[in-house]
Amino acid sequence: MPSLENKVAIVTGAASGIGLACARRYAAEGATVVGIDLHESGYWSSVQALAPNSRFHQVDVTDAAALMAVAQTTARDLGSIDILLTAAGVGDGGPVSMLDEDTWDRVININLKGTFLSIKAVLDTMVAQRSGSIITIASVEGLNGTEGGSAYNASKGGVVLLSKNVAIDYGRVGIRCNAICPGFIETPMLNNVMGQMPEFKADVVRETKVGRLGKPEEIAGAAFFLASDDSSYVTGHTLVVDGGYTAGHSHGIVQLMGLV
Ligand code: NAI
Repeated sequence: MPSLENKVAIVTGAASGIGLACARRYAAEGATVVGIDLHESGYWSSVQALAPNSRFHQVDVTDAAALMAVAQTTARDLGSIDILLTAAGVGDGGPVSMLDEDTWDRVININLKGTFLSIKAVLDTMVAQRSGSIITIASVEGLNGTEGGSAYNASKGGVVLLSKNVAIDYGRVGIRCNAICPGFIETPMLNNVMGQMPEFKADVVRETKVGRLGKPEEIAGAAFFLASDDSSYVTGHTLVVDGGYTAGHSHGIVQLMGLV
């Protein structure tokens, strides 16, 4: 059985949703987890209950110096940085003619530049160790355009390609980098969007081939695989975890044929 025993994982966006689920899964598999988020988490005690040496830093992922300080403190106090998972992100956008420059800058800064700065902060340590697994959380919206996506899609498409480039540049020093593209996952971010547009939720569920939204723990399962030695030959990969949302369109033909 693969395990993360004796590994140290830094997780951004660790206070909520996908990041929190990944932090919990890594802790449950034996890793010590260093959580980073803009906001304090009422749930962080559940990570510490699984991995008592785990710690939490209230840091903005657009703050390069603060991220570097967390990485240096982690390496000094815990001895290594074996895993980085970047889940900090915001969902915003709109048709270009309706999108103001501040919103564009904010989304790109947090989702794309924040990912770049988080990776940059851990690389010195990982290069010195000659090992490490970096997992970025992109989105299916980084693979295809979506109505009104603009800034969000552009940021996530950037994360997909940045992850491939890190894999290319650092593979020979033992560092792997892969992106996960979640579909529609029930988290505070998605609930906020879908709460305002119930028709959108019904449409997404219809287009998701397993017939439901995803759970944060289902992304954490993929994030565990990519962090563990079971994925030792997987790098530069974009792992879609979307319940079949991007597999293709369904028009109800098999239902008409009496399959289901
Ligand atoms: P969430 O809103 O539950 O969690 C996002 C976390 O990021 C929050 O705790 C928030 O405080 C933190 N954060 C935001 N800005 C930050 C900053 N500047 N510095 C540090 N932390 C910051 O949302 P969710 O859904 O868990 O999203 C996690 C990641 O997954 C995001 O990158 C999102 O774009 C991505 N994603 C989510 C999908 C979904 O359906 N929920 C689908 C595809 C991708």
